[in-house]
Amino acid sequence: MTQAHPKPAGLWVRLSEKQREPLTFFLNGEPCQALVGDTIMTALLTQSRGLRRADPSDAVRAGFCVMGACQDCWVATEEGARLRSCLTLIEPGMRLVMAP
Ligand code: FES
Repeated sequence: MTQAHPKPAGLWVRLSEKQREPLTFFLNGEPCQALVGDTIMTALLTQSRGLRRADPSDAVRAGFCVMGACQDCWVATEEGARLRSCLTLIEPGMRLVMAP
């Protein structure tokens, strides 16, 4: 008999370095937890299925290269700044917005 595993909330599952210090950031105004040293990409994809919506298809995008080359991982701050999430560390209190 196989045991069913619950579907993780995020696209990525954190397997190691779980002991790093936690921090709080905000996504669409809601507080979220990440770990010090996470990139924005890691912080978001461990708790959501994508980073942004593609224009004009509206498809969910989650990055591709994870090394700063593909330009598929841009996210926005509440102030309107655009950040490449695979190269930018999440910071305590950072306020990000993402289309649902
Ligand atoms: S995932 Fe390719 S630039 Fe960030």
